[in-house]
Amino acid sequence: MKTIFSGIQPSGTLTLGNYLGAMKHFVDLQEENNCYFCIVDEHAITVPQDRLKLRENIRSLAALYLASGINSDKSTLFIQSEVSAHTQLGWMLQSISYIGELERMTQFKDKANGKEAVSSSLLTYPPLMAADILLYKTDIVPVGDDQKQHLELTRNLAQRFNNKFNDIFTVPEISIPKVGARIMSLQEPTKKMSKSDENQKSSIFMLDDVKKIEKKIKSAVTDSEGIVSFDKENKPGISNLLTIHASCTGQTIEQLVTYYEGKGYGEFKQDTADAVINTLKPIQERYQELVNSHELDDILDKGAEKAEYSAAKMLVKAKKAMGLGRVKRKK
Ligand code: AMP
Ligand code: TRP
Repeated sequence: MKTIFSGIQPSGTLTLGNYLGAMKHFVDLQEENNCYFCIVDEHAITVPQDRLKLRENIRSLAALYLASGINSDKSTLFIQSEVSAHTQLGWMLQSISYIGELERMTQFKDKANGKEAVSSSLLTYPPLMAADILLYKTDIVPVGDDQKQHLELTRNLAQRFNNKFNDIFTVPEISIPKVGARIMSLQEPTKKMSKSDENQKSSIFMLDDVKKIEKKIKSAVTDSEGIVSFDKENKPGISNLLTIHASCTGQTIEQLVTYYEGKGYGEFKQDTADAVINTLKPIQERYQELVNSHELDDILDKGAEKAEYSAAKMLVKAKKAMGLGRVKRKK
């Protein structure tokens, strides 16, 4: 049995990219592993958030995890800010992180680009992410492709800490799905589908209704060739829809390409929309039952308690290794 940890930011409504690249795989992993799934609200405040909207997004994300199939009897689901060891270890790991390596993170560069005021936490976000992971002796971190660089840094920080102080941290492995690791924007298929895209037509949100999903897929940018085939470079739009279709139905891309031989984009897009709708509809129904329920609060309370128990033990070890605080003397 391995320990798995992953987190998603409550920074807006989740997209189909979050689901296919991350959440869907979490559900499979919980069967045979010890899993922690976190709502990383302290990561979300690295960019400005409206407080009421943030609260709503936290709850909504918790409900989406459960509606997607995270089972609270098997996995620990919790909110990052409810377990204080995360920011505490985050600070300690900042002290062994170099400004240069943090400035090289592409997510930092992308998010800071063109902004007048960039918070310092946007820069120091990766050591907090490392703390999330290292607190739980995590073996494997399932994430989408965009988190590869942060995971590499987490591994470096773990090794650096172990060499410098004491060998206490497990160096985690990254797990990226074979299909669906990078779902692209429907309007600009060379860019990743993102929660924060200003063009609403670019992203399918997990709570979009049937009509919206159909409309967005039908207006997805493709090409004029009229042949359904997979070629990321020359046909990024169709390749993205093939990835979405395959991830939603479990068919392989090859099977789909063979099936749509001689058929037009119209039929292919309609079927892709149906595949997405069939995937998201049951999740949306369960979401509605959960989002305002006491059941949700009970699960989050229990999750925070369980996470706190493991995290506190690791925090004590890390403090001791670094020489923080006191050694209690016997009376
Ligand atoms: P975030 O929305 O940045 O908190 O990401 C949460 C998880 O979803 C991470 O594991 C990301 O790698 C994954 N993810 C986000 N956007 C996409 C996308 N367009 N395609 C695949 N995975 C994604
Ligand atoms: N940085 C991740 C993202 O933007 C979210 C995240 C925070 C995370 N802590 C984590 C993912 C720990 C995996 C493990 O998507």
